[in-house]
Amino acid sequence: MTNKFKKENAFVNGAWINSNSGKRITVINPANSESLGSVPDLDVEEVNAAISAAAKALPAWRALSAWERSSYLRRIYDLIMEHQEELAKLLTLEQGKPLAEARGEIVYGANYFLWYSEEAKRIYGEVLPSSSPDRRVTIRKEPIGVCAAITPWNFPQAMLARKLAPALAAGCTFISKPDERTPFSAIALALLCKEANLPEGVFNVVTGSAPAIASALMKSNTVRKVSFTGSTRVGKILMGQAADTVKKLTLELGGNAPCIVFADADIERAVKMAVMGKFRNSGQTCVCINRFLIEKSIMAQFSERFCKEVASLKLGDGLTPGSQVGPLIGKAAVEKVRTLINDAIDNKATILVGEVPKGDSLFVKPTVLKAESSSIQIFQEEIFGPVAVLYPFSSEKEAIELANSTQSGLAAYLFTKDIDRATRVQEALEFGMIGVNEVAISAAEVPFGGIKHSGFGREGGREGLQEYLNTKYICVGVR
Ligand code: SIN
Repeated sequence: MTNKFKKENAFVNGAWINSNSGKRITVINPANSESLGSVPDLDVEEVNAAISAAAKALPAWRALSAWERSSYLRRIYDLIMEHQEELAKLLTLEQGKPLAEARGEIVYGANYFLWYSEEAKRIYGEVLPSSSPDRRVTIRKEPIGVCAAITPWNFPQAMLARKLAPALAAGCTFISKPDERTPFSAIALALLCKEANLPEGVFNVVTGSAPAIASALMKSNTVRKVSFTGSTRVGKILMGQAADTVKKLTLELGGNAPCIVFADADIERAVKMAVMGKFRNSGQTCVCINRFLIEKSIMAQFSERFCKEVASLKLGDGLTPGSQVGPLIGKAAVEKVRTLINDAIDNKATILVGEVPKGDSLFVKPTVLKAESSSIQIFQEEIFGPVAVLYPFSSEKEAIELANSTQSGLAAYLFTKDIDRATRVQEALEFGMIGVNEVAISAAEVPFGGIKHSGFGREGGREGLQEYLNTKYICVGVR
C-alpha cells in the first residue's frame, strides 16, 4: 500500500537524510511479517549533527513570542487532523493496532498540539513579596533548551506528540528517537512540521539502533532533558547515564495496573470498561489492566459476563474491517505472554477463555485466566498482551493490599457505587493515576505519569509544560 506519509529518511536540520554508512533498518508489518520499507541506521556523528542543529535553532525559537510558537502548534494540529486517515493507516501498518484505535491515537496525539498551542501563552512567572523592603523578587520560567525524546512502539504517534508539543510550546528545540520498529509515524510528524514551516533544526528525527543513539543523546551536555517512555529496565539505565551531564529526565515506565471490582459496582459498566481497559492495543499499554481483583461474592457473575465479551472479540489484521485485537509487536512479546500464562497455570490458574499461545504467530487469542494464587509472576510483571487474570478478594483491606503489592505505581482502577468506599480506596492506592468507574483516563489536559518504579515527572496538562521549563529566581536590590 502506498502512503504519502511513509518517508524513509531521518530528518535533521530541516533536511531528509540517509546514513553516511548506508546502513538501514527494515521495518516490518507485524500483521503479515512483510517489509514496509526501511530507515537509516544513523551513527553517533550523525546524531551529534542533529544535536548541533537543535542547538543552533534554539536561540531564535526561544526568542519567538509565545503567540508565535502557539500558532505553529495550532498549524501542526490542523495538519494532523486534515490527514488523520492516512496517518492512522500508516500507524496500523507499522504497529498492528486496529484502524479504529489508530484513528483514535492520531486524534489523541493531535490534541497535545491543540492543548499546548493554548498553554504556550500561559507560561506565567511570579512576583513574590520579599522579606526585605529593599529587594524585589521575581520568578521567570525559561525553556530548558535542547530536549530529546525516546519513544516506544506501542503509541508511536501519541507518545511523541505528548513530549514534543509541550517542549515546542516552552521554547525548547527537540530531537526524537522513535523505536526502530515503528519509526514512520515520527517521520510523518516531521513531514507535517515541515509543511507547517517549523524553522529548520527545531524538530529533528534520528533513526537507528536504540542503545547507540540513546547513549549519544545521554552523553551530550547540549541535551538538557530527555523524556523516555518504555520499560523500567531501560529507564534505570538512562537514570545512570543521565548522572554525568546532570540531565533532567522524565520517565514514564512500566505499570502493573490493578482493577478492583467491588460487589456494589455497576457490573455491566465494569465489564464493558474492563474489556476496553484490558484489550485495547492488544493489551500493549502501560496503563492496561494487568490484574483484576474481583470481590468473591460477584466473581461468578463478573467472570461469566466478562468471558462472554472477551470470547466475542475479533482477532485480526488491524486493517481488516471489524478487527478488535491486532497482533503483538514481535516474537519476544508472544514468548513473554506464553511464559506468564504457563507460570499462572503451574500455580493452579485455569483458562476460562483462550489458550496458551501456540507456534510463532504474533496473533494471540484474547485469554482469561482465573488465578488461585497471587504468587504468580503476573502480580509483579507487566503482561503487555491480551491476557486477563481474575483473582478473588474478601475485604476492602485485602483488595488494597493486593493492589499495592507491586513496585509499579502507574495506574489503578476501581469500580464501586459507594462514594465513601471510592474515596477511601483511591486515597489508599499507591499509583500516579486512578480511574474510578472509568478506564479511559488518558487525555491531553491531564498529568500522565507514575510513582515508584513506574517513573517520575508528568506528561500532559499544565504539569507537562513545567517539565520543559527552568525556574529562574531574580532578586533586585533597590536603593
Ligand atoms: C502508554 O502505554 O505508555 C501510554 C498509554 C496512554 O497514553 O494511554
